[in-house]
Order: sequence, then structure tokens, then C-alpha cells
Amino acid sequence: MSELDFDVTVIGGGPGGYVAAIRAAQLGLKVACIESRGTLGGTCLNVGCIPSKALLQSSEALYQAQHKLHEHGVKVKEVTFDLSQMMKRKDDIVKKLTGGVEFLLKKNKISYFKGLGSFVDNKRIKIKSSDGKETEIVTKKTIIATGSEPIELSMAPFDEKQVLSSTGALALDKVPAHLVVIGGGVIGLELGSVWARLGAKVTVIEAAPHILPMMDKDVVRTMKKVLAVEGMEFHEGTKFTNLSKSASGIRVFIESESGKQELSCDKVLVAVGRRAFTKGLNLDAIGLTLEKNGKIKIDEHFQTSVPGVYAIGDVVDGPMLAHKAEEEGVACAEIIGGKAGHVNYVAIPNVVYTWPEVASIGLTEQEAQAKGVEVKIGKFPFAPNGRAMAMGEAEGFVKLLADKRTDKLLGAHIVGPSASELIAELAIAFEYSASAEDIARSVHAHPTLAEAIKEAALAVDKRSLHS
Ligand code: NAI
Repeated sequence: MSELDFDVTVIGGGPGGYVAAIRAAQLGLKVACIESRGTLGGTCLNVGCIPSKALLQSSEALYQAQHKLHEHGVKVKEVTFDLSQMMKRKDDIVKKLTGGVEFLLKKNKISYFKGLGSFVDNKRIKIKSSDGKETEIVTKKTIIATGSEPIELSMAPFDEKQVLSSTGALALDKVPAHLVVIGGGVIGLELGSVWARLGAKVTVIEAAPHILPMMDKDVVRTMKKVLAVEGMEFHEGTKFTNLSKSASGIRVFIESESGKQELSCDKVLVAVGRRAFTKGLNLDAIGLTLEKNGKIKIDEHFQTSVPGVYAIGDVVDGPMLAHKAEEEGVACAEIIGGKAGHVNYVAIPNVVYTWPEVASIGLTEQEAQAKGVEVKIGKFPFAPNGRAMAMGEAEGFVKLLADKRTDKLLGAHIVGPSASELIAELAIAFEYSASAEDIARSVHAHPTLAEAIKEAALAVDKRSLHS
């Protein structure tokens, strides 16, 4: 085998791609990973999950100092913040993590090619680096893991100065006076929260009747209330129609059942979803056509219509989540390596990192209704939970849905402190097809936030102990 011959080539070094590369290398395959960004880790590490969580943490610390510490008797005289330090901290975290992934590739003897990968045919891939140098490699199998990019609205193209994508909204050098967010989904609420806590007026425009349209309606009601306290305003069931920019600011035109309205602001964040990114792959060369929504069609083994070419992560169907991509990366590498790779799509948690956080898995009450599945519902608030009270974070609840006939857990929804961590218990419960009774009978340490999950499980059978 020549130096440029590989068993598996992964195009894309995000959470799906680099994890697939590592797993394939663990299975003894000779692996190449091609990434054009210049750093590994994809959207998630560079301009997504990680930098947004860094800013959410910093802005939450500020919010605590300004609004919560006094409840603990902690007196802080004058709370100020240094945005450039917050941004530097965020950038340092990103650098450390992306460097860490590069180390992992080296450790696993994966050949990392910096450049844009495009198909010559289904066994040959050309890599063009930023200095124009071209390299061609030969590969038995290829995994496409090229991710996604923010959807741009024709009436509000990104300039990353006034009209921002999520990438631009993570790198402002000044807090906007008024930020209008188009799209009340995950990114809109997470980044809206960051800038609201740092002092911006934040107005969210959501076309659907409610923000977080895919979430359980109980969750949405609570989140709207909590985020409004943080200072966020919502225009739901409202369409963004147009905007006009000038040096002094932006006029945003919106329309709802109650009529047309105009908002003045200095920045607009467009967060209306993401679309699969396949530019530059030269898919024509291998005869691979995209679905109408721009995604790549695969079978249950991640195999595309082209022999030897696989696809995982945001470029294929399913939620655009780093952890979903990672699991697909592992499963796909295992299938290529001759093992029985598998992803349990029923057990994929979803998190919104506002504060309190939102975490869910499985069906919402509305989805269960629409499917005609009869469920028993158990709900328990954090308000009487001792640990939540001690933390001063007693907002929110746990809501569990169990099959009326079998008691099997079908849905779990948490709004509350550290919901992102709490949902792990329920993800495992789903993986083991647990019943509400299984959770109710499991010993939960006291005092912990997780006791609210146990109480919600008890409430499924109307026997919660602390309400
Ligand atoms: P999203 O799909 O979560 O939300 C987009 C929202 O925009 C929807 O509520 C939609 O109804 C609304 N919308 C669409 N067109 C509109 C218009 N013209 N005017 C007003 N509202 C409009 O997409 P988002 O927030 O951009 O996130 C993109 C992807 O990234 C998601 O798939 C998400 O799963 C992923 N992501 C996940 C995170 C996490 O796991 N915590 C964090 C950030 C992103």
C-alpha cells in the first residue's frame, strides 16, 4: 500500500468525521481525514456548541453576580465585565479543544490532510490546500461527513457586521443595544440569552405559533416566562418580511395576524435553521444526487447509492446534533470494519443550553397524541427539591411520558438547572427500554436534582412522595 492509499477516507473533521476516523483506526484500518477549515472539530468546536457554551457560561456568571448572589448573602459592590476577556477565554477553549482533536488523530496514526476534498471517482479523492497545492489519494471507502451551514435568507443576507449568522454572533466586539433574532429555535434562544444577559435588548421573531416549535408545549410555556425575565421579547406567529440597513442601524419589517410592524435595531441574528453542506465535493463525478432538501440519502448502513461511499451527520437525515453525528461516525466505521454498527435513534437527547436548561428525549405529549399513543404523564417541579432550593435554582420541572399499557418510557422533558446533565439518566433508561417503574424504584442520592426525575416517575403512577 503506498503512502497515499487508504482503507477509509473521511471527508470532514467535525464530531462525526473525526470520531469515525478514530473508530476506523481503532479497528486497524488505514485512515485519512480531510478538513478544509484549517482546524479540526467542525462547526461544533469552532463556531458552534463549544464557543456558545463558553459565552453562555461567562454571561451566566455575570447574571449570577448581578441578580442572584445577593440571595446567598454574597455582596458584590459593582459588577462589570470585560467582553474582550470573555471572547479570549472562548477562543482559548476552542483552540485547546481543536488542538486536542489534532493530537487524537496523530495518536491514532490517522493521516490529516488540510484542504478541500473532492471526488475524482469513488476510489480517488483530490485535496486542494489553501496554498493551491493538490494531492490525490486512493481510498477503498469514503465517509462523507461535511456537516451543515446556516441557512441564509434572501431578504437578509449575512454580512457578519449588521446581519449575523451564529458565527458572527459569537464574535461581536461590542454588546448590541438591540439585537433582533430571526428564528426562535435553539440557536436563537441560546445566543439571544448570551447577549440579553450582557445587556442587549433582545427581540425574537418566530414564524411558528410558538418558540421552540418542536418542543413539548409545557416546556415552551415555562421557557417563555423565564426568558422574558432575562429581558427577551417574543413575537410569535410572526413573519420576517424584509430589512433595510443604513449606517445608523437596521429597520426590520415583520408581519403577523395583528398587522405589519417595524423594529429598529443595530444587529440582526438570522437563526432559521441549517442546511447540509456538500459544496466542493464534486458529487457529479461519482453520480451522487442530493435529495430535495440538499441532504444525502443513505440506507440503514450509512451507504449512499454509490458503492463504497458512506455519509453521516448533518449531511444525512435526522437531527443536526453533534452527538448524533458522533454515534453515526462510530457505527459507520464499525460497519466498514466488519462489525455490527448501530445507532438507537429513539434514544437521542436534545438540549437547549439556556438557563434553566431544556433537555428532552423521545416523544412530546403532542406527538404522542398525534400518533394516537395513549400515555400516562408524571410531572414533578424543582420547587420542592431540596438541592434545587439550596442552589437557588428551583425553576422548572421534569415531565415523563410512559405507555399507558406497558409503562415503558416514551418521552422525557426537563426544564431546570443542569437539565443537560440530568437527561443522561433518561437516555440510559431509553437505551434499556426502561419503564417509569424502573426509574421510580431506582435509588437516587439525596439531596440531588435527579430526585425530581424519580418523583416524576412516581407521579406517572400518581404516587409521588413530595408533592
Ligand atoms: P432551529 O430549527 O432550531 O430553529 C429555527 C427556527 O426558526 C424555527 O423555530 C423556525 O420556525 C424559525 N423560522 C424559520 N424561518 C423563519 C422566518 N423566516 N422567520 C421567523 N422564524 C423562522 O434552527 P437553529 O436554531 O438555526 O439551529 C440550527 C441547527 O443547529 C438545529 O438543527 C439545532 O439542532 C442545531 N443546534 C443545536 C444546538 C444544541 O444542541 N444545543 C445548539 C445550536 C444549534
